Amino acid sequence: MTILHISAECYPVAKVGGLADVVGALPKYQNSPNTTSQVIMPFYDNKFTQENTFSSVYDAQLNLGDSVYDFQILVLKDKPLDFNVFFVQVPELLFKDYVYSFDDTDRFLAFQIAALDWLLTWGMYPDIIHCHDHHTGLIPFMLQESYKYEAFRKIPNVLTIHNAQYQGWFSHDKVGLIPPFNFEHVGLLDWGGQINPLAAAIKCAWRVTTVSPSYMEELKQAANGLESLLSAESAKCIGILNGIDCNVWNPETDTYIVENYSIKTVDQGATANKTYLCDTFNLDLDKPLFAFIGRLVDEKGSDLFPEVFQLALEKDNLSILLLGSGSKITENQLQDLKPNFVGTYNAFIGYDEKLSHIIYAGADFLLMPSRVEPCGLNQMYALRYGTIPIVRSIGGLKDTVTDINEAGGFGICHPNTTVSEITEAIDRAITLYKDQPTYKGIRTKIMAIDHSWDASAEEYINLYNTLKTSQQ
Ligand code: ADP
Ligand code: GLC
Repeated sequence: MTILHISAECYPVAKVGGLADVVGALPKYQNSPNTTSQVIMPFYDNKFTQENTFSSVYDAQLNLGDSVYDFQILVLKDKPLDFNVFFVQVPELLFKDYVYSFDDTDRFLAFQIAALDWLLTWGMYPDIIHCHDHHTGLIPFMLQESYKYEAFRKIPNVLTIHNAQYQGWFSHDKVGLIPPFNFEHVGLLDWGGQINPLAAAIKCAWRVTTVSPSYMEELKQAANGLESLLSAESAKCIGILNGIDCNVWNPETDTYIVENYSIKTVDQGATANKTYLCDTFNLDLDKPLFAFIGRLVDEKGSDLFPEVFQLALEKDNLSILLLGSGSKITENQLQDLKPNFVGTYNAFIGYDEKLSHIIYAGADFLLMPSRVEPCGLNQMYALRYGTIPIVRSIGGLKDTVTDINEAGGFGICHPNTTVSEITEAIDRAITLYKDQPTYKGIRTKIMAIDHSWDASAEEYINLYNTLKTSQQ
């Protein structure tokens, strides 16, 4: 079976968040003697593309309405990845030093059209086309409706929703950018008077998956306007929990961290990483270290951090380190807090892959008070590195973290994203930390939890097989 993943992000080529981690791992775990899983993604102007060499395997032009753009399909000359990645180079549109911005409609439309044009002219017919998020949401529509891609009608396609908050909306004025299709079916593109690529994909894809089972259920109640659509299409929807790439995220071999460690040596190894963090960020090594890593957006609950941190730090019984960027208001409030808590609080505003690994290794607790969390990978990385997650029980967090007060529990859970519930959860964590034997017992227990991709990768393969059977 040949599978083609179509995605805007893929680790280590281009990463904004968890989508990259998933698309950078799942193909590895799907590849087997009988299965070839590959990725096609845009060619951006970033560190990865600057540091690697590429050759062109296809050169053509694409039409975006009345405009014509040159494009190429590139492949890596050396093969530093564990699976094939094809890159869509549209110099005028995609080759930017950012992944997402104000001009996404034209850029991602060009990407999707180029990818399908190439498959068509190359006569490359994957057994499965697997689309990720709204950036590739017009592909299921085009496969089903456009005259140009009629040859692809029978290829089963799957849409995975990593985050339904973002839907790629654009105005019907731009409908002419989409390759010609039976205009009687234009309603398939529409949701609430706009072209909505995510809604179009939910309507047209053969199957829709979400990245955790709980998120699937939650979307039927709240999906940024798509709840009734997801309820109506629920027969073809299924939640499959993400895994983590245990080769990349392994404290025994991770080359980013200060000292490697296993379950047996976590005491010493985690402390070495914590010491590095405390030295670098001027934090108190003797206090429990709480961390946050992520996008500073309302979904993550990060707008509450300035108040939560102020209240928690006043008690002078913990250290806090934050790594993230996003809302300028939150960023400024987090910076402003620094002079008040020198020695127990610091924030690195920005993106730093290496530092994120050291924080997973060195922190004692990881905060994730998300309002919405389709899956969340951070809590699974934290578990693997022996850092206890403090989560709001929602979406994938609910599916992966059980509270210490429940049978077999190992994390700290709170039901709502409020200042008082987050501060209470922090207090509970401090009490746990004071009981070092129990704290250490939990730490070794969580490191042994298996969140590898194996089971989920197989679930996807089973899903594809069902679709292939139904196609015959
Ligand atoms: P989301 O995709 O919603 O941002 P996930 O939990 O699925 O959330 O994945 C986030 C990924 O991005 C993780 O690999 C996390 O370590 C990483 N990450 C987020 N923010 C930063 C940052 N500022 N620096 C380094 N890594 C980050
Ligand atoms: C999205 C979600 C996150 C999920 C990730 C990977 O970015 O916000 O919860 O883990 O995709 O599927």
